[in-house]
Amino acid sequence: MHDKPMNDKQAVAIHAATYVKKGMLVGLGTGSTANYFIEELARLQTEQNLKVTTIASSHVSMIKAQSLGLSVVAITQVAEIDLYVDGADEITPDMTLLKGRGYDLVLEKLLAKAAKQFLVVTDKSKLVDRIGTNYAIPIEVMPFAWKATKRSLEAAGGTGDLRQNSAKDGLSISSHGSLILDMVFDQSISEASLNQLINNTPGVVEHGVFHGLASLVLIADNGNVEERWK
Ligand code: A5P
Repeated sequence: MHDKPMNDKQAVAIHAATYVKKGMLVGLGTGSTANYFIEELARLQTEQNLKVTTIASSHVSMIKAQSLGLSVVAITQVAEIDLYVDGADEITPDMTLLKGRGYDLVLEKLLAKAAKQFLVVTDKSKLVDRIGTNYAIPIEVMPFAWKATKRSLEAAGGTGDLRQNSAKDGLSISSHGSLILDMVFDQSISEASLNQLINNTPGVVEHGVFHGLASLVLIADNGNVEERWK
């Protein structure tokens, strides 16, 4: 048995783990909430013999999962997974997500799409009316194409620039070698149109708008967890 959850992130991660069944191939997200989920999976494997195989959305999650004794396979071996559990930075009422502050967009979206069920683990602070309320939209671009891609996004009403690294002495590079444009768009554009607009821009590798992908959003609020199904 685990103790009472320390906080909402842990509470929602423990709730998500109740959807895991023996033998599943489970996608592991990236971030502080996803970390609690990885810890809970490892606990269930040790204490309740809940054997699963996992696939990680980032190097950091892969290293954490392996260090806790979980079996991790590579994306190259997988076309479909049973369940993907990950956090988000923003969530709208239609369950569109903003993700990718942690630079791991490409694998995150691949796993979200490959999953039979995509569970989003979050808390009330992430709920917004429109995508882009609290953060710019991260857009990974081919390094050689960034200027032309930025110009196309600006022509569609976006403003923004290349993301700096945390030391502010260079550019951020994603896990897969892309540059990242952090772009802001007019709030009047719908989530579906924004998704399509960025998808249709040449030079874009992937972006942080996850539209129509989440199956279930779990929202923690002071220890209680609300379920919102698609
Ligand atoms: C990682 O790239 C993001 O998409 C995360 O899922 C997001 O930042 C959530 O992180 P927290 O669970 O730490 O809030």
